[in-house]
Amino acid sequence: MKKPDIAIVMGSVSDLETMKASIDILKSFNVLFVAKVLSAHRTPKELEAFVVGMEKVGVKAFIAGAGGAAALPGVIASFTTLPVLGVPIETKSLKGLDSLLSIVQMPAGIPVATFGIGSSGAKNAALFALSLIALDSKDTFSKIKKFRAKQAAAIKKIKI
Ligand code: RP5
Repeated sequence: MKKPDIAIVMGSVSDLETMKASIDILKSFNVLFVAKVLSAHRTPKELEAFVVGMEKVGVKAFIAGAGGAAALPGVIASFTTLPVLGVPIETKSLKGLDSLLSIVQMPAGIPVATFGIGSSGAKNAALFALSLIALDSKDTFSKIKKFRAKQAAAIKKIKI
C-alpha cells in the first residue's frame, strides 16, 4: 500500500466545508493524503498519537484547520518537527480573526506557517504543501507549473 504524503487535520467536522478546498487540490494533483477530525482541546491524546504515527509513516507535512481558540496547528507543531501549515477557519462571532490570531501568534521556537482565513487559505495551504513535495518530485514540480499556466491563461482570456 502506498504511503500518504500529507496529513490533513481539522478540529471539528464543521471545518470540513472549508478544508474541502485543501482536499480538492491534493486530489486534483493525485497526491496521497489522510484526512482526520481531531481536536487539540477535545481529543488531545488521540491527536498526539495520530501526529506521532503520521511522522513514523513518513508524511511530509501537516495541514491543520481550526476555528476560534484554534490551538490545533500549534499543538500539532509541538508533537512534530515536520512543517505544519495552519488554516484559520472563519467563525460566526469574530469572522475568523480569532482563529487567525490563535494560529499565527506562536511562541518563538515552535513555528506554524499560517495561511489566510477560510477556503482561500485552505487552497493555498494545499498548494504550499505541494511546493514542499515538489522539492523532491519533478512530477509534482511540473504539475504546479501547469496549474499556474492554466490559471494565468484563464485570466488572460477574460474580456470585459
Ligand atoms: C474548533 O472549534 C474547531 O476547529 C471548529 O472550527 C470550532 C467549532 O467546533 P464545533 O463546535 O463546530 O464542533 O475546535
